[in-house]
Amino acid sequence: MGVPTMSLVFILLAVMLQQMIQASQEPACHMNDLTALKGFTKCLEQDIGGWNWSSSNCCSFTGITCDNSSVIYGRVVGLELGNKRLTGTICESLVGLEQFRILNLSLNSLHGKIPANLFRFRNLEVLDLSNNYLVGPLPSAIHLPSIKYLDLSKNYFSSFISMQFCTSSSHIQYLDLARNFFGEGSIYLENCTSLQYVFLNGNVTDGIGNLSNLVELNISLNDFSGSLPDVFGRLRKLESFSASSNRLTGLLPASLVNSVPLLRIDLHNNSLDGPIRINCSAMAQVTSLHLGSNNFQGPVPASLSSCQSLTVLHLARNKLGGVVPFEFRNLHALEFLSLGNTSINNISTALDILQHCKNLTILDLGLNFYQEEMPSNVNLQFTSLTALIIPFCHLRGSLPIWLSSSKMLQLLDLSWNSLGGSLPSRIGKFEYLFYLDLSNNSFSGEIPESLTGLENLVHKTALLKESCEHISLIKSKEQGRPRLFTGPIWPSFGNLKNLHVLNLEENNLSGSIPDSISGMTSLEVLDLSCNNLSGEIPYSLVHLSFLSVFNVSYNRLYGDTPSGGQFMTFPDSSFDGNQALCPRLVAPCQRKQIHPVVSPGKKMKIMDWNFGIGAAIGFLLCVFFCFKSGWVIPKGRVCRC
Ligand SMILES: *[C@@H]1O[C@H](CO)[C@@H](O)[C@H](O)[C@H]1NC(C)=O
Ligand SMILES: *[C@@H]1O[C@H](CO)[C@@H](O)[C@H](O)[C@H]1NC(C)=O
Ligand SMILES: *[C@@H]1O[C@H](CO)[C@@H](O)[C@H](O)[C@H]1NC(C)=O
Ligand SMILES: *[C@@H]1O[C@H](CO)[C@@H](O)[C@H](O)[C@H]1NC(C)=O
Ligand SMILES: *[C@@H]1O[C@H](CO)[C@@H](O)[C@H](O)[C@H]1NC(C)=O
Ligand SMILES: *[C@@H]1O[C@H](CO)[C@@H](O)[C@H](O)[C@H]1NC(C)=O
Ligand SMILES: *[C@@H]1O[C@H](CO)[C@@H](O)[C@H](O)[C@H]1NC(C)=O
Ligand SMILES: *[C@@H]1O[C@H](CO)[C@@H](O)[C@H](O)[C@H]1NC(C)=O
Ligand SMILES: *[C@@H]1O[C@H](CO)[C@@H](O)[C@H](O)[C@H]1NC(C)=O
Ligand SMILES: *[C@@H]1O[C@H](CO)[C@@H](O)[C@H](O)[C@H]1NC(C)=O
Ligand SMILES: *[C@@H]1O[C@H](CO)[C@@H](O)[C@H](O)[C@H]1NC(C)=O
Ligand SMILES: *[C@@H]1O[C@H](CO)[C@@H](O)[C@H](O)[C@H]1NC(C)=O
Repeated sequence: MGVPTMSLVFILLAVMLQQMIQASQEPACHMNDLTALKGFTKCLEQDIGGWNWSSSNCCSFTGITCDNSSVIYGRVVGLELGNKRLTGTICESLVGLEQFRILNLSLNSLHGKIPANLFRFRNLEVLDLSNNYLVGPLPSAIHLPSIKYLDLSKNYFSSFISMQFCTSSSHIQYLDLARNFFGEGSIYLENCTSLQYVFLNGNVTDGIGNLSNLVELNISLNDFSGSLPDVFGRLRKLESFSASSNRLTGLLPASLVNSVPLLRIDLHNNSLDGPIRINCSAMAQVTSLHLGSNNFQGPVPASLSSCQSLTVLHLARNKLGGVVPFEFRNLHALEFLSLGNTSINNISTALDILQHCKNLTILDLGLNFYQEEMPSNVNLQFTSLTALIIPFCHLRGSLPIWLSSSKMLQLLDLSWNSLGGSLPSRIGKFEYLFYLDLSNNSFSGEIPESLTGLENLVHKTALLKESCEHISLIKSKEQGRPRLFTGPIWPSFGNLKNLHVLNLEENNLSGSIPDSISGMTSLEVLDLSCNNLSGEIPYSLVHLSFLSVFNVSYNRLYGDTPSGGQFMTFPDSSFDGNQALCPRLVAPCQRKQIHPVVSPGKKMKIMDWNFGIGAAIGFLLCVFFCFKSGWVIPKGRVCRC
């Protein structure tokens, strides 16, 4: 080896060594990748936090993962920018990231079409574009041979047609295409045999039965019609099946009601019929059955009592009939039971049996037992109950004494019954109560002052999720006997700091509106209309900064109408029918003589409280609210003084 050759080797070595040293300090990212990323940011409408273009090492940027198998440069293999408030579009140049394995742009506000070539990545394993505003048809030619996780849900994609998808992407385990606008499009799943989780919109052709690895299948909120295929025997790992809100008809297939692995079934809001033939010998582990809002026919199946793990049983709005089966007393794990609007009868029998379900927390029996007598048996015990919902039954009798055993009670809805007598003061003893609806009954007498001491509304405890707080209850029912709540609005109402809605509309309350009620600082709705209240509207109410609905119409109020604060936003109709009340924004006016405006008689006696805040008992209660606000409560409001 000659000297020149030696020096060449030395020079080469020196150069390499220098590169290695640089690499170990700050391994540069590949030029192609840097260019691709620069192009990608051009289509975004803002800078990405943590991306510093003064450094050419994109591997150190936020959300980027590089493959460092080369010492000289890193290749970008992951771009994870989920939930970064990105707006703009996805540029074609992103396709330059040839080594891509993970792309996550979910939970942003990206719009526009996506580059077709994004669906031709050889190494891409995870593609998550969910929760954006992306549009357009998806490309029909998809080549993602390594894909395992594909989530395009909650966008505005308009079609998905790919016959070959499962042939070319046969390793896919997780597929979520739900909540798009696939007006047309099909996906043939039979060859996607690795699939474990499937969430779909649009058409699914046959082939579900071949997916023997499926753990969860959710095809809710689609347009599926016809009967369910009898293929569940082949889905040996399926634990959760949801097909709610479709147009399914026919019977429950034999393979479904005998499926051993299934734990959760949700088929609510379809038109399924026939008897509910769940075979509890086979489905011994099932925990949740939601079959509400179908055309299932009765009776309530006693055999369900053998499903000993059942915690949620939702059969509301079916044509069942009969009584609650005696065997239901064995459902020891049962926590949620809804039999509302199922044409069942005999409330005494129902409560006698269900009190043995010691874990029962939420019980909905509304729209049944027409005109029966509310049991007054003092021995009934519902010790775990947090929500009791029995409205629209026209039950006679009085507020049940046995409720005192339900110390955990948070929600009580006995509206639209014919319960009478005065309200006992023990109603204020429920430590956790935050929602009480006794409207449209025949109660009379004073509002017990103890109500203003409801522990959960006086002291801040756990709060409900915001989405559940907004409840509107509207009552307006003419009843024959004009008995009303009488007496004053207690000044101590001001203690209910956590109350969101107070509705005392259409009673016969008298006296003045206490100044102290401005202590209800969370109040959003205050309706005192159609009573016999006199005096002035306390000025302090302008400090109720969340108040969005206020109504004192049809009373005998006089004086100035407070102006300022939220009062600037209330319509004149909030103050109508008080002849001596001065209009807002007008200089002090002369007080007129007071004329009572409330016409007595044929008024309903209504007391209606909606407590929108308090200790949460979690998901089920939340579900109840959403369900209730869309179902039980008639919308619209009419004041008929
Ligand atoms: C950006 O990178 C340059 C060069 O590496 C460095 O000097 C500068 O401090 C960085 N800026 C930020 C905001 O990190
Ligand atoms: C590659 O190197 C960069 C910079 O040293 C480092 O931040 C990153 O975690 C490495 N990536 C992998 C996949 O090891
Ligand atoms: C994508 O990012 C979002 C937000 O960070 C995250 O919730 C989601 O789990 C990620 N997706 C995947 C497949 O990791
Ligand atoms: C399902 O496919 C049929 C036949 O191809 C089509 O008529 C229908 O519109 C499709 N429905 C949906 C929701 O894609
Ligand atoms: C599924 O795979 C089989 C065998 O490779 C093939 O004949 C069939 O056409 C495939 N089905 C679909 C819908 O791709
Ligand atoms: C799908 O299931 C059907 C019926 O069992 C069978 O004939 C077909 O071969 C299966 N297809 C695949 C790809 O396994
Ligand atoms: C099924 O999907 C629907 C719609 O996307 C969703 O509301 C529901 O919670 C899902 N069910 C389950 C059990 O995940
Ligand atoms: C019931 O399903 C229909 C579609 O079949 C849907 O339009 C409706 O909103 C659903 N109702 C509820 C309460 O989910
Ligand atoms: C119920 O399931 C058991 C156990 O799998 C089975 O032996 C029995 O035949 C099934 N009954 C019906 C009516 O299918
Ligand atoms: C009660 O169920 C019947 C059908 O079973 C339905 O027509 C009616 O609308 C339901 N009522 C309510 C308030 O859901
Ligand atoms: C009833 O609830 C308690 C407390 O959550 C639980 O420990 C117990 O296992 C439940 N009983 C049954 C039969 O599931
Ligand atoms: C309810 O059932 C019990 C026991 O079978 C019976 O004594 C009672 O008369 C029934 N009540 C009504 C209202 O049908």
